[in-house]
Amino acid sequence: MDRFEKAYRDPIPRPPRRRRNALTGNAVFTGALFLATMALATDAIDPDALKRLVVQDCGSCHGLTLKGGLGPDLRPETIEHYDVEVLRDVILDGIPDTPMPPWRPLMSEAEAEWVARYLLSPEDMQ
Ligand code: HEC
Repeated sequence: MDRFEKAYRDPIPRPPRRRRNALTGNAVFTGALFLATMALATDAIDPDALKRLVVQDCGSCHGLTLKGGLGPDLRPETIEHYDVEVLRDVILDGIPDTPMPPWRPLMSEAEAEWVARYLLSPEDMQ
């Protein structure tokens, strides 16, 4: 289970429950904060997690093979007229008043751009 699967189903992030005692509590907290900051700072793209997200989450509306379902066909030949930036912004902000949700709470701009490039040209993004 990666963070996308979890977060999409449970949109309210809940901090992990942490048991503290007076002596080590503060050190444990500082360590956790440091790790969290490191994770954000590297902002690494995880292609496998993003590919799973496309199949499982985007696929739940756009069809498992992205041929379309509730949401339209997202195969390369269908969306080739869109620029990467347009697709990236649709992914980040969604389409208001439609079921297409904004993904900004769940992914960085770099990740959304990766997904946009992957949709346009999957064979170049292995
Ligand atoms: C809850 C259902 C749902 C999910 C999940 C979803 N979409 Fe959509 N998406 C839609 C719908 C419905 C539309 C069409 C909205 C409209 O009427 O214009 C759409 C439209 C789009 C469009 C515009 C397509 C076009 O030709 O105009 C893109 C691009 C897109 N989605 C990408 C994604 C991606 C990438 C993901 C996963 C990160 C995703 N969607 C997840 C429902 C969804």
